[in-house]
Amino acid sequence: MGQQLEPEFDTSVPQTARIWNYWLGGKDNFPVDRAVGDQILEAFPAIVENARASRAFLARAVQYLAGEVGIRQFLDIGTGLPTANNTHQVAQSVAPDARIVYVDNDPIVLAHARALLTSTPEGATAYIDADLHNPEHILKEAAQTLDLSQPVAVMLMGILGHIEDDDEARSIVRRLLEGVPSGSYLTMNDGTDTSEEVVEAARIWNLSANPTYHLRSPERIARFFDGLELVEPGVVSPPQWRPEPGQPAAAIDSYCGMGRKP
Ligand SMILES: C[S@@+](CC[C@H](N)C(=O)[O-])C[C@H]1O[C@@H](n2cnc3c(N)ncnc32)[C@H](O)[C@@H]1O
Repeated sequence: MGQQLEPEFDTSVPQTARIWNYWLGGKDNFPVDRAVGDQILEAFPAIVENARASRAFLARAVQYLAGEVGIRQFLDIGTGLPTANNTHQVAQSVAPDARIVYVDNDPIVLAHARALLTSTPEGATAYIDADLHNPEHILKEAAQTLDLSQPVAVMLMGILGHIEDDDEARSIVRRLLEGVPSGSYLTMNDGTDTSEEVVEAARIWNLSANPTYHLRSPERIARFFDGLELVEPGVVSPPQWRPEPGQPAAAIDSYCGMGRKP
Protein backbone atom coordinates (compact mmCIF):
# COMPACT_ATOMS: atom_id res chain seq x y z
CA MET A 1 0.00 0.00 0.00
CA GLY A 2 3.04 2.25 0.56
CA GLN A 3 3.29 3.39 -3.06
CA GLN A 4 -0.41 4.44 -3.06
CA LEU A 5 0.21 7.02 -0.33
CA GLU A 6 0.41 10.60 -1.51
CA PRO A 7 3.64 12.51 -0.83
CA GLU A 8 1.90 15.34 1.07
CA PHE A 9 1.40 13.17 4.17
CA ASP A 10 3.70 14.12 6.99
CA THR A 11 5.74 10.96 7.27
CA SER A 12 8.10 12.40 9.88
CA VAL A 13 5.58 12.49 12.76
CA PRO A 14 3.73 9.35 13.89
CA GLN A 15 -0.05 9.85 13.45
CA THR A 16 -2.81 8.33 15.54
CA ALA A 17 -4.93 6.92 12.66
CA ARG A 18 -1.87 5.22 11.12
CA ILE A 19 -0.59 3.72 14.40
CA TRP A 20 -4.09 2.42 15.16
CA ASN A 21 -4.17 0.95 11.64
CA TYR A 22 -0.81 -0.77 12.31
CA TRP A 23 -2.08 -2.38 15.52
CA LEU A 24 -5.24 -3.55 13.75
CA GLY A 25 -3.07 -5.32 11.16
CA GLY A 26 -3.53 -2.73 8.37
CA LYS A 27 -0.95 -1.61 5.81
CA ASP A 28 -1.69 2.13 5.64
CA ASN A 29 1.17 3.23 7.87
CA PHE A 30 4.76 4.46 7.61
CA PRO A 31 8.04 3.48 9.34
CA VAL A 32 7.63 6.31 11.93
CA ASP A 33 4.19 4.96 12.86
CA ARG A 34 5.47 1.38 13.15
CA ALA A 35 8.46 2.51 15.24
CA VAL A 36 6.35 4.19 17.93
CA GLY A 37 3.71 1.44 17.55
CA ASP A 38 6.38 -1.17 18.32
CA GLN A 39 7.76 0.82 21.27
CA ILE A 40 4.27 0.89 22.77
CA LEU A 41 3.76 -2.80 22.00
CA GLU A 42 6.86 -3.57 24.02
CA ALA A 43 5.63 -1.59 27.04
CA PHE A 44 2.02 -2.72 26.65
CA PRO A 45 1.63 -5.92 24.59
CA ALA A 46 -2.12 -5.98 25.26
CA ILE A 47 -2.59 -2.92 22.99
CA VAL A 48 -3.39 -5.17 20.01
CA GLU A 49 -6.08 -7.03 21.95
CA ASN A 50 -7.27 -3.62 23.21
CA ALA A 51 -7.60 -2.26 19.67
CA ARG A 52 -9.46 -5.36 18.47
CA ALA A 53 -11.79 -5.37 21.49
CA SER A 54 -12.57 -1.69 20.84
CA ARG A 55 -13.47 -2.42 17.20
CA ALA A 56 -15.58 -5.39 18.32
CA PHE A 57 -17.46 -3.05 20.70
CA LEU A 58 -18.07 -0.62 17.83
CA ALA A 59 -19.62 -3.43 15.78
CA ARG A 60 -21.86 -4.68 18.64
CA ALA A 61 -22.92 -1.12 19.50
CA VAL A 62 -23.89 -0.32 15.89
CA GLN A 63 -25.66 -3.67 15.53
CA TYR A 64 -27.66 -2.98 18.70
CA LEU A 65 -28.53 0.58 17.63
CA ALA A 66 -29.58 -0.38 14.10
CA GLY A 67 -31.35 -3.56 15.27
CA GLU A 68 -33.00 -3.40 18.70
CA VAL A 69 -33.21 0.40 18.91
CA GLY A 70 -34.08 1.07 15.25
CA ILE A 71 -31.64 3.97 14.72
CA ARG A 72 -31.17 4.80 11.05
CA GLN A 73 -28.63 7.66 11.23
CA PHE A 74 -25.04 7.50 12.48
CA LEU A 75 -22.46 10.27 12.96
CA ASP A 76 -19.10 8.51 13.43
CA ILE A 77 -16.51 11.10 14.50
CA GLY A 78 -12.86 9.99 14.59
CA THR A 79 -13.55 7.29 12.01
CA GLY A 80 -9.97 6.11 11.52
CA LEU A 81 -8.71 4.33 8.41
CA PRO A 82 -11.15 1.94 6.77
CA THR A 83 -10.89 -1.56 8.22
CA ALA A 84 -13.13 -4.61 8.57
CA ASN A 85 -16.68 -3.93 9.78
CA ASN A 86 -16.80 -0.18 9.18
CA THR A 87 -19.85 1.49 10.70
CA HIS A 88 -21.87 1.63 7.46
CA GLN A 89 -21.23 -2.04 6.70
CA VAL A 90 -22.46 -3.13 10.13
CA ALA A 91 -25.44 -0.72 10.18
CA GLN A 92 -26.54 -1.44 6.61
CA SER A 93 -26.25 -5.22 7.10
CA VAL A 94 -29.04 -4.78 9.67
CA ALA A 95 -30.86 -1.82 8.06
CA PRO A 96 -29.97 -1.23 4.38
CA ASP A 97 -31.56 2.24 4.51
CA ALA A 98 -29.18 3.45 7.26
CA ARG A 99 -27.40 6.77 6.60
CA ILE A 100 -23.85 7.25 7.93
CA VAL A 101 -21.66 10.33 8.10
CA TYR A 102 -17.97 9.79 8.85
CA VAL A 103 -15.74 12.56 10.23
CA ASP A 104 -11.96 12.66 10.71
CA ASN A 105 -9.29 15.34 10.43
CA ASP A 106 -6.35 13.21 9.30
CA PRO A 107 -5.46 13.63 5.59
CA ILE A 108 -4.66 9.93 5.25
CA VAL A 109 -8.18 9.00 6.33
CA LEU A 110 -9.53 11.48 3.76
CA ALA A 111 -7.35 9.85 1.09
CA HIS A 112 -8.83 6.43 1.87
CA ALA A 113 -12.39 7.67 2.40
CA ARG A 114 -13.57 6.14 -0.89
CA ALA A 115 -13.69 2.77 0.89
CA LEU A 116 -16.18 4.30 3.34
CA LEU A 117 -18.49 5.56 0.62
CA THR A 118 -19.75 2.20 -0.56
CA SER A 119 -23.34 2.61 0.59
CA THR A 120 -26.28 0.41 -0.26
CA PRO A 121 -28.55 2.11 -2.83
CA GLU A 122 -31.29 2.54 -0.17
CA GLY A 123 -28.97 4.20 2.36
CA ALA A 124 -26.21 6.83 2.18
CA THR A 125 -22.68 7.44 3.37
CA ALA A 126 -20.70 10.69 3.42
CA TYR A 127 -17.30 11.77 4.65
CA ILE A 128 -16.48 15.13 6.25
CA ASP A 129 -12.89 16.31 6.68
CA ALA A 130 -13.38 18.22 9.95
CA ASP A 131 -12.12 18.71 13.49
CA LEU A 132 -13.99 17.59 16.60
CA HIS A 133 -13.04 20.90 18.23
CA ASN A 134 -15.72 22.51 16.02
CA PRO A 135 -18.90 20.47 16.65
CA GLU A 136 -21.18 23.15 15.16
CA HIS A 137 -19.37 22.87 11.81
CA ILE A 138 -19.64 19.05 11.94
CA LEU A 139 -23.41 19.25 12.59
CA LYS A 140 -23.91 21.78 9.80
CA GLU A 141 -22.08 19.60 7.27
CA ALA A 142 -23.70 16.38 8.54
CA ALA A 143 -27.13 17.93 7.93
CA GLN A 144 -26.50 17.58 4.19
CA THR A 145 -26.81 13.80 4.60
CA LEU A 146 -28.66 13.28 7.89
CA ASP A 147 -32.09 14.60 8.93
CA LEU A 148 -31.18 16.18 12.26
CA SER A 149 -34.85 16.35 13.29
CA GLN A 150 -34.73 12.53 13.55
CA PRO A 151 -32.65 10.50 16.07
CA VAL A 152 -28.93 10.14 15.38
CA ALA A 153 -26.32 7.90 17.01
CA VAL A 154 -23.31 10.09 17.76
CA MET A 155 -20.22 7.88 17.92
CA LEU A 156 -16.97 8.98 19.59
CA MET A 157 -14.78 5.88 19.55
CA GLY A 158 -11.21 6.38 20.74
CA ILE A 159 -11.22 10.11 20.04
CA LEU A 160 -12.10 11.99 23.26
CA GLY A 161 -8.75 10.92 24.75
CA HIS A 162 -7.20 13.27 22.19
CA ILE A 163 -8.86 16.17 24.04
CA GLU A 164 -7.01 16.51 27.31
CA ASP A 165 -9.26 18.91 29.21
CA ASP A 166 -12.40 17.29 30.66
CA ASP A 167 -14.43 20.52 30.54
CA GLU A 168 -13.58 21.04 26.87
CA ALA A 169 -14.33 17.41 25.99
CA ARG A 170 -17.65 17.52 27.86
CA SER A 171 -18.57 20.81 26.22
CA ILE A 172 -17.98 19.23 22.78
CA VAL A 173 -20.17 16.23 23.68
CA ARG A 174 -22.92 18.56 25.00
CA ARG A 175 -22.84 20.74 21.87
CA LEU A 176 -23.04 17.69 19.60
CA LEU A 177 -26.02 16.33 21.52
CA GLU A 178 -27.74 19.74 21.49
CA GLY A 179 -27.81 19.43 17.70
CA VAL A 180 -29.75 16.14 17.66
CA PRO A 181 -33.26 15.37 18.96
CA SER A 182 -34.56 13.40 21.92
CA GLY A 183 -34.18 9.66 21.25
CA SER A 184 -30.66 10.18 19.88
CA TYR A 185 -27.74 8.23 21.33
CA LEU A 186 -24.15 8.84 22.38
CA THR A 187 -21.81 5.87 22.21
CA MET A 188 -18.16 6.18 23.12
CA ASN A 189 -15.08 4.22 24.03
CA ASP A 190 -11.70 5.40 25.32
CA GLY A 191 -8.49 4.30 27.02
CA THR A 192 -8.37 4.25 30.84
CA ASP A 193 -5.49 4.65 33.29
CA THR A 194 -6.24 1.24 34.78
CA SER A 195 -2.79 -0.39 34.61
CA GLU A 196 0.82 0.72 34.93
CA GLU A 197 1.55 -0.67 31.46
CA VAL A 198 -1.08 1.45 29.73
CA VAL A 199 0.07 4.57 31.59
CA GLU A 200 3.60 3.89 30.32
CA ALA A 201 2.23 3.31 26.79
CA ALA A 202 0.49 6.71 26.88
CA ARG A 203 3.70 8.33 28.09
CA ILE A 204 5.62 6.89 25.13
CA TRP A 205 2.83 7.94 22.74
CA ASN A 206 2.88 11.50 23.99
CA LEU A 207 6.64 11.83 23.48
CA SER A 208 6.20 11.76 19.71
CA ALA A 209 2.77 10.93 18.30
CA ASN A 210 0.24 13.43 16.99
CA PRO A 211 -2.22 14.28 18.46
CA THR A 212 -1.38 13.42 22.07
CA TYR A 213 -3.63 10.97 23.94
CA HIS A 214 -4.79 11.29 27.54
CA LEU A 215 -6.09 8.37 29.55
CA ARG A 216 -9.01 8.95 31.91
CA SER A 217 -10.31 6.97 34.88
CA PRO A 218 -13.50 4.93 34.31
CA GLU A 219 -15.32 7.48 36.53
CA ARG A 220 -14.25 10.38 34.29
CA ILE A 221 -15.39 8.42 31.24
CA ALA A 222 -18.77 7.79 32.91
CA ARG A 223 -19.32 11.55 33.34
CA PHE A 224 -19.65 11.97 29.57
CA PHE A 225 -23.04 10.28 29.97
CA ASP A 226 -24.37 12.75 32.59
CA GLY A 227 -27.94 13.69 31.67
CA LEU A 228 -28.40 10.65 29.39
CA GLU A 229 -30.29 7.41 30.06
CA LEU A 230 -27.53 4.79 30.24
CA VAL A 231 -28.11 1.62 28.26
CA GLU A 232 -27.44 -1.57 30.27
CA PRO A 233 -24.87 -2.71 31.35
CA GLY A 234 -23.68 0.90 31.80
CA VAL A 235 -20.11 2.12 31.53
CA VAL A 236 -17.91 -0.99 31.44
CA SER A 237 -14.84 -2.36 29.71
CA PRO A 238 -15.66 -3.14 26.02
CA PRO A 239 -15.51 -6.96 26.31
CA GLN A 240 -18.18 -6.66 29.05
CA TRP A 241 -20.64 -4.61 26.98
CA ARG A 242 -23.31 -7.05 25.73
CA PRO A 243 -20.76 -9.74 24.80
CA GLU A 244 -21.58 -12.43 22.27
CA PRO A 245 -22.20 -15.80 23.97
CA GLY A 246 -18.88 -17.48 24.71
CA GLN A 247 -16.90 -14.29 24.11
CA PRO A 248 -14.11 -13.64 26.70
CA ALA A 249 -15.25 -10.85 29.03
CA ALA A 250 -12.03 -9.95 30.89
CA ALA A 251 -11.62 -6.17 31.30
CA ILE A 252 -9.06 -4.30 29.21
CA ASP A 253 -7.62 -0.80 29.78
CA SER A 254 -10.51 0.93 28.07
CA TYR A 255 -14.11 1.80 29.03
CA CYS A 256 -17.17 2.31 26.90
CA GLY A 257 -20.87 3.00 27.13
CA MET A 258 -24.04 4.12 25.41
CA GLY A 259 -26.63 6.65 26.53
CA ARG A 260 -30.00 7.86 25.17
CA LYS A 261 -30.88 11.54 25.06
CA PRO A 262 -34.16 11.87 27.00
C1 LIG B 1 -7.72 5.74 17.88
S1 LIG B 1 -8.38 6.20 16.32
C2 LIG B 1 -9.97 5.43 16.45
C3 LIG B 1 -10.58 5.02 15.13
C4 LIG B 1 -11.96 4.37 15.18
N1 LIG B 1 -12.96 5.28 15.72
C5 LIG B 1 -11.94 3.10 15.98
O1 LIG B 1 -12.56 3.05 17.05
O2 LIG B 1 -11.35 2.13 15.54
C6 LIG B 1 -8.76 7.96 16.56
C7 LIG B 1 -9.18 8.70 15.31
O3 LIG B 1 -9.61 10.01 15.68
C8 LIG B 1 -9.10 10.96 14.75
N2 LIG B 1 -8.99 12.27 15.44
C9 LIG B 1 -8.18 12.61 16.48
N3 LIG B 1 -8.39 13.89 16.85
C10 LIG B 1 -9.35 14.38 16.02
C11 LIG B 1 -10.01 15.64 15.92
N4 LIG B 1 -9.71 16.65 16.75
N5 LIG B 1 -10.95 15.81 14.96
C12 LIG B 1 -11.26 14.77 14.11
N6 LIG B 1 -10.69 13.55 14.17
C13 LIG B 1 -9.74 13.35 15.11
C14 LIG B 1 -7.75 10.41 14.33
O4 LIG B 1 -7.33 10.94 13.09
C15 LIG B 1 -8.05 8.91 14.30
O5 LIG B 1 -8.47 8.50 13.02
